[in-house]
Amino acid sequence: MTRITVTVDGDTYTDDVEPRTLLVQYLRENLGKVGTVIGCDTSNCGACTVHLDGRSVKSCNVLAVQADGHEVTTIEGLATDGQLHPMQKAFHENHALQCGYCTPGMIMQAIDILKDHPDPSEQQIREGLEGNLCRCTGYHNIVKAVAAAAKAPGAELASSKVGE
Ligand code: FES
Ligand code: FES
Repeated sequence: MTRITVTVDGDTYTDDVEPRTLLVQYLRENLGKVGTVIGCDTSNCGACTVHLDGRSVKSCNVLAVQADGHEVTTIEGLATDGQLHPMQKAFHENHALQCGYCTPGMIMQAIDILKDHPDPSEQQIREGLEGNLCRCTGYHNIVKAVAAAAKAPGAELASSKVGE
């Protein structure tokens, strides 16, 4: 076992984990952060996307020990004081989900796109989402949602709690 200390959604945790434990397993099984989901476990689908030190990663492709000493933000850390994050709101308002399985990863990746492209073109949004698969929506409303969120203040920020 290896001892790690990780800040997740603004709270700091110290745990002993097996060196082979994936970050997504650690989040779900140790911390109960089941909002981060597993779609493929082979870094193809993007459903498990979280932010590591403010940038998106596929958490099935990162070991928990690699997050030692770092900050992770999951979909569960986005809402502040009961208010949805602007990207969550935009997905809701633009009907950008159906079954919702891809949605946590889509939203985390969409926020990351806005860090590089505060006013993204449709092509930049589509390219930014190319590692995130959706079986339901046909992507059109997801792209619309990201474009709408880009107009909201603070949409590129993952959480006001992180870094406090
Ligand atoms: S579960 Fe991580 S990319 Fe699919
Ligand atoms: S909404 Fe069902 S997989 Fe995207």
